[in-house]
Amino acid sequence: MKSYNLSMRFITNSKNNFSIPVYGLGTWLMGGDKMRNPDNDDERDIGAIKMHIDSGVRFIFTAENYAEGHTEEIVGRAIKDYERESLMIATAVKRLNGGYDKFVKSANECLDRLGLDYVDVLFHHARDLETPIKETARALNTMVEEGKAKNIAVSNYSKESLEEMMEHSKYPIVINQVHYNLRVRGPEITGLRNFCRENDVILQAYRPLMLGGLVEVGKYKILDEIAEKYDRTSAQIALNWIYSQGVAMVATTHSAEHLKDNLEALTWKMEKEDLEKLTEEFPDQVEMDEVVGILQ
Ligand SMILES: NC(=O)c1ccc[n+]([C@@H]2O[C@H](COP(=O)([O-])OP(=O)(O)OC[C@H]3O[C@@H](n4cnc5c(N)ncnc54)[C@H](OP(=O)(O)O)[C@@H]3O)[C@@H](O)[C@H]2O)c1
Repeated sequence: MKSYNLSMRFITNSKNNFSIPVYGLGTWLMGGDKMRNPDNDDERDIGAIKMHIDSGVRFIFTAENYAEGHTEEIVGRAIKDYERESLMIATAVKRLNGGYDKFVKSANECLDRLGLDYVDVLFHHARDLETPIKETARALNTMVEEGKAKNIAVSNYSKESLEEMMEHSKYPIVINQVHYNLRVRGPEITGLRNFCRENDVILQAYRPLMLGGLVEVGKYKILDEIAEKYDRTSAQIALNWIYSQGVAMVATTHSAEHLKDNLEALTWKMEKEDLEKLTEEFPDQVEMDEVVGILQ
């Protein structure tokens, strides 16, 4: 398969100069869901991760709570033959491990499962309402100071929580990963997207295809019409729209054809009027995430 040079398609924070590729791989459902699936075809997942790397994808996101940590082991096995410096590996400590000791312990266990000395980006998966943000910030600081996290980030943090985290963190919070796509507009409506733009935090969309719910022909007339106009697939229109907002994304696929589709979605520009039409007229828009991880 063709390797796409994504080097031209990075999003960079202007002040702290941190960059990530616009398109990254998410690993949810590899190895199981929240629980490990003993019958999982690990080799198939490893194959999918390698297919992404061989196609030029450099950012891989995984998490401690995916398949009880087994997804991190799968990622570790998939990346072991690649040059470490050529990849950006990110993992997330689970929400309820936000307290200092739990966070540091979890983050070290993540590294063990990945078989790495450091991750490029260490996330807190979602705000732990039981723990002051200050404590989670202290743990993130420690991981940077011990050289185990090159950068630190959050996920599902509201504007207010992110602001508080930034106050307490000694190092830049480089990414906030949130549910964002043509239907889920919480980050826009709550002002989070603009806050991130103004404060040098990259907004990274998860579920950019709404778990495949934005790819079905015949479901959304507006998507079908715009896809036809550009001779593109619905998935490509949905991803291109996200990119055009200055937002990065993590998506997932096991299909070579879908991966090609997705990477090619970022190589062209949609006309302004179509982008605006999608922004304003896309049906069934919801403010908050109906599925998982409400911004808090
Ligand atoms: N931080 C958080 O709280 C959080 C929450 C949810 C998800 N995430 C991360 O975000 C990542 C991506 O989200 P997601 O996996 O939930 O959803 P998604 O990427 O929006 O959708 C994935 C689905 O879309 C299909 N697909 C992908 N490209 C396609 C294409 N070009 N045409 C048709 N179908 C296509 C895939 O099936 P095929 O394999 O058949 O292509 C898969 O079923 C996850 O893996 C996870 O790591 C993070």
